[in-house]
Amino acid sequence: MKLAEAPVSHLSHFECSNCRQVVERETLPSYCEDCHSPLLARYGFLTGIDKANFHIAEQGMWRYFRLLPLSKREDIVSLGEGLTPVIPLQRLGSKLGIENLFVKDEALNPTGSFKARGLSMAVSMIKQSGKTHCVVPTAGNAGGALSAYCAKAGIKATVVMPRHTPEVFKKECQYFGAELVLADGLIDTCGKIAQELKKEHGYADVSTMKEPFRLEGKKTMGFEIAEQFEGQLPDAIVYPCGGGTGLVGIWKAFLEWREMGWLEGPLPKMIAVQAANCAPIVHAFHSQHGDPALGPSIANGLAVPKPFAKDLILDILKTSKGSALAVDDQQMIEGVKMLAKYEGLFVAPEGGALLMSLEKLLEQGVIKREDKVLLINTGSAYKYLENIP
Ligand SMILES: Cc1ncc(COP(=O)(O)O)c(C=O)c1O
Ligand SMILES: [Zn+2]
Repeated sequence: MKLAEAPVSHLSHFECSNCRQVVERETLPSYCEDCHSPLLARYGFLTGIDKANFHIAEQGMWRYFRLLPLSKREDIVSLGEGLTPVIPLQRLGSKLGIENLFVKDEALNPTGSFKARGLSMAVSMIKQSGKTHCVVPTAGNAGGALSAYCAKAGIKATVVMPRHTPEVFKKECQYFGAELVLADGLIDTCGKIAQELKKEHGYADVSTMKEPFRLEGKKTMGFEIAEQFEGQLPDAIVYPCGGGTGLVGIWKAFLEWREMGWLEGPLPKMIAVQAANCAPIVHAFHSQHGDPALGPSIANGLAVPKPFAKDLILDILKTSKGSALAVDDQQMIEGVKMLAKYEGLFVAPEGGALLMSLEKLLEQGVIKREDKVLLINTGSAYKYLENIP
C-alpha cells in the first residue's frame, strides 16, 4: 500500500507494556489500570508503506504523520520541532580515542529541548479530543514545552514544578500563559499534586509515560536516527535517562522501522546515563544493595526518583545489551565545558553527563574505540545558567 493511499492514522489499539493486555482505541487513554504500567500505541499496516512519501511531506517530525496516532492533519500543533542535526564530534572523539563519535542535538528544538516532540504530539491529541485544560508535573523542560504548545493551541495548561528549578523554566511557562504551581520536592511530589488537580478539575494528564502520546512524539528521534545514519545504526546510543521517554521512544521507533522492513542488522546498545544524586535505574540495572540515591541534581531532568516506566527501561537496556551508569554533578559541568570548548556546543548538564560517561563505558568494555557512538543531547545550557558556574 502506498502511504498516500493508507487510511488516515494507522493507530489500531493500545497495548500494556507489561501484561500485554489490549486496550481499545480511545481518545485520551492513560495507563494500564490492572498492572499500573505504560500503554504503547500499536499500529496496523506496518508493512508495505512507501517510505519515499516521507520526503514529500513536511521537514520536521510531522513528516512521520502516518506513523503517529493523530487522525487529522488540521489538529497538528507544531512550532517546528524535529529534524535536529547529527553532528560529528571529531575533536572530542580523537581526544577520547573514539573514531566515530556523534551527537544528535535536540537543544535546537522549540523551547530548547527534546520535550518539544512529545508535547507537540500530546497537545495535538488533546486538541483533537476537544479537552481544554491539561496538567503536567515536570522537572522543567516539559513544563515549558507544554506551555508553549498549549499557547499555540489555545488550550489552558497547569504546570507543577519543583521550587528549586532555575527561574527561566518558571518564567517561560508564565510568558506562555500557563498556570504555574511550585512544589517543595522533586518531580514525584509534583506528580502527586498534579494527580489531585486532575481529579478535582478533570484536566487532561500528560505525566511522563502515564499517557501513550508523548512517547509517540519522542519516537520520531529514532526514525530520524535511522534515516540520518542511512540504516547503518550506531553501535551504541547514550541517553540521559530520567523518566525514560526518549530511550523507550527511540527503541520503539527502531522496532517499528524494522517491522516495516526498513532496518536490518543488530540494533544499538542502549545506554542510560543518570545523575549520581538520583540513579534508580542504575541501582536496579546492577542490582545494587541498599537504597538508591534519590536527590536533586543540576541536571534537573535527571532528578526522577520513581520512573513510571522503570521496568520497560530496564528491559530495553538488557535486551539491547546496553548498560546504565551514573555521573556526578561536578563531572557534568566538566562535560558541558568540554563540549563547549572543543565542539562549539553549549549543552545542558544532561548532555554534559553523556560525554563524561564515555571513559567509563570504554573501560568497562561496553563500548569499543572503533564503535559508532551517538550521544543524545536533550537540552540547552542557556536554560541552566543558574546551575553551572
Ligand atoms: C534536558 C533533559 N534531558 C533529559 C531528560 C529526561 O527525559 P526522560 O524523562 O524522557 O528520560 C529531561 C527531562 O526532564 C530533560 O529535561
Ligand atoms: Zn497491564
